[in-house]
Parts: sequence; C-alpha cells; structure tokens
Amino acid sequence: MNDAAQDVSDGDRTGASAEALLGTAGIARREVGSAESQRASRAWWDADADDYLGEHSADIGQVDFVWSPEALREADARLLGDVAGRRVLEVGCGSAPCSRWLATQGASPVGLDLSAAMLRHARAAGVASGVAVPLVLAGAEYLPFADASFDIACSAYGAVPFVADPGRVMREVHRVLRPGGRWVFAVNHPMRWVFPDDPGPDGLVVGQSYFDRTPYLEVDDDGAATYVEHHRTMGDRIRDVVAAGLVLDDVVEPEWPDGHERIWGQWSPLRGKLFPGTAIFVTHRPA
Ligand SMILES: C[S@@+](CC[C@H](N)C(=O)[O-])C[C@H]1O[C@@H](n2cnc3c(N)ncnc32)[C@H](O)[C@@H]1O
Repeated sequence: MNDAAQDVSDGDRTGASAEALLGTAGIARREVGSAESQRASRAWWDADADDYLGEHSADIGQVDFVWSPEALREADARLLGDVAGRRVLEVGCGSAPCSRWLATQGASPVGLDLSAAMLRHARAAGVASGVAVPLVLAGAEYLPFADASFDIACSAYGAVPFVADPGRVMREVHRVLRPGGRWVFAVNHPMRWVFPDDPGPDGLVVGQSYFDRTPYLEVDDDGAATYVEHHRTMGDRIRDVVAAGLVLDDVVEPEWPDGHERIWGQWSPLRGKLFPGTAIFVTHRPA
C-alpha cells in the first residue's frame, strides 16, 4: 500500500503532497475496474513523482537496477540472463534507472510508464547521467508494440501491483516477447497484504484476510479513487502467468541482508528478517 497512506499530512515535504494535490479524504475497500485504476494511478504517480524520487532516489540510484527494498541488484542476481545485444522492455519504469543500467550492459532497453511526470524525471536523469533511453508513455494493459518485438521484459514494482487485470498484462507481455524470451517482474510479496503497512511492530500483527482480494483505495470527497492497489494471492499470480502461456521458472523471495538498515515505506529490517517483502517471478515464453 501507499507509503504515505498513514500520514496524509506529511509535514516534511516542501511542496504539496500528492494526497493534498488529489484531495485524498480517506481510505476505501471496493471493486475497481481497469479504467478507474489506470486513471487513479496516472494521477497518483504524476502528483507523487517529485516526492517519490526525493525520498527514494538514493535507494534506486540513477544508473542501477535494484529489484526491491531488500536491495537485490540485477548485477548480482542476474535474473534476466545475458542482456548484451538484447531488446528489453521495462514495464512501469518510473524514472528508468533500471533501463539506463541495462543500456550500460549493452542492451537496447525501452522504458514504458503511465506517468508523464515519472518520464520527465527519466528524461532529465538520462541527460544528467549521459545514458539516455527511449521512453514510452502508455499503460501496461495495452502495450503499444508489435508482436515478438522484445527479447526480454522486466518490471521492478512497476505497474503489476496497480492494474485491475494483471492477467491482461501477462498476456500482453507474452505477445510482445519473442518465443523463448524472458519476463521477470517484482511485486510486493502477497503475504504482506495481511499486515498493516507499518515498518514497526504494529506491522507484525495480522489485520485482514490474505484471501480478501478487495482492492485498497484512497478516495477523494466524492469517493473517486486517488490511489489504487490490487491484491493477488501467490496462487493467483502463478495462475495469471500460466494462463497467459508463460512458463514459471522461479519465484525469488529476497531475504533481508545483514547490515541493511534502510526503511522504505513498509519495508524494514524488523519485518524483512521475519517474512518476505518481495516476490520476483521469473518466467519465459516457450520457444
Ligand atoms: C513504485 S514505481 C517503480 C518504478 C521504478 N522501478 C522505480 O523504482 O522508480 C511504480 C511505477 O509504475 C508505474 N505504473 C503504475 N501503474 C501503471 C500502469 N498501469 N502502466 C504502466 N505503468 C504504471 C508508475 O507510474 C510508477 O512509475
């Protein structure tokens, strides 16, 4: 869930918070379809881009591929295999540090994101770092690419937790991958859903059912969504992958490393030592 959800009046921010800009008035639990989810996500990430990057740019870097708050790096994990010379689609690239890192490894990445504000940061970071990558403004449920146009697709917490129809994202990625191509995506670990988004001891107490798929929303005074997160159980995620025609090769649950003290929203050493915070699904389109 949203890092700032429990602190709507965040006083540390210099500009207005995303909640203030969007008129967030409370939290709701109800069904929400693709159109409203996408509208809310676009508005949220546009409004929150400056704050998100102000808070997390030290975690994600400018030219670096960090999979998760456990600080698992692609340079160490090599979940994408050999990327040199490969066409790579990053889904939900944000400011695109992962795509830039891939470019430095000899890949030809394309970063796709729903948020123009995030892509503005991506473009500026490309200029500042000297590693520019192509960027595409689009939602993950309808990928604007030809069939079989990529060798690899990846996503580090981009898009998948925020869409109403993740099965559709899986089918779209399957379509744009060449046969044999790999798709690796990281999401918040499904078991986190049962706990409140609190990095401290209160975040160790079960508060809701793992089996309740009702989306988490923040809403304005009219009840319109200003932020949306969708829950899938582990079984749901695996079924989405398999139903799309992809093969599941591995599920990586990064362990919290010794000496890593960084708190990132609900992800903390306290909780990370006890249960997983991230699930990374390693899949491929059959040859
Ligand atoms: C938590 S950020 C992760 C991005 C990047 N890995 C990072 O750490 O900055 C999530 C990103 O997913 C994007 N996103 C959310 N919903 C999306 C959708 N339906 N289609 C494409 N991108 C989406 C957001 O705009 C945001 O940039």
